[in-house]
Amino acid sequence: MPIRAWFPTYIYHEPLQRAGLNKFNSELADECHRIRDYDAAGQRWSKKNYPGGYTSYASLNQLHKISSTFGDLERRITAHVKRYTRHLDMDLRGRTLSMTDFWVNIMPEHVTHSLHLHPLSFISGTYYVVTPKGCPGLKFEDPRLSNFMAAPPKTATARPVNRAHITYPATAGSVILFESWLRHEVAPNRTCEERISVSFNFNWS
Ligand code: NI
Repeated sequence: MPIRAWFPTYIYHEPLQRAGLNKFNSELADECHRIRDYDAAGQRWSKKNYPGGYTSYASLNQLHKISSTFGDLERRITAHVKRYTRHLDMDLRGRTLSMTDFWVNIMPEHVTHSLHLHPLSFISGTYYVVTPKGCPGLKFEDPRLSNFMAAPPKTATARPVNRAHITYPATAGSVILFESWLRHEVAPNRTCEERISVSFNFNWS
């Protein structure tokens, strides 16, 4: 084949661990609800910036430092991030990977999360806690999209790797990792149940 692909965009998707996730996730969901109920500042912020939903992104965003459940999850997620950085051939120059932010997202029916990226970090990701059947996944956008000035559209049968978007299903117990510059969004939750996830940023310092 005379044509090869270069400059890939890698997305990591893997179960957090092999077993024991149901109990862990149900305890984690309870803790997410307790955090929401306690976090008046986050509720106010979410009212303006995350209508209908709750996120602790702007209020309680270092949950791994104040909760043992989140601290435990941080350790398990860090192992996945290490694997991911190895795949990316990143040389951390003797520095350590550190989780800088860790927050909760609760999305009831109709709540959406528009296209964004995660500044001030290099690897970001999400762990899914509660994912009702049919709830929206995580949709990524081709980072080169703004460069496709005069390119024709893709065919209806284009291979997934050649399409402008890819949506990963939200599956409780799974970790998704991506480089923080990669734009992503979550479509409106069209189920009548809450979708709960926890998101995080990593830096190397
Ligand atoms: Ni995000």
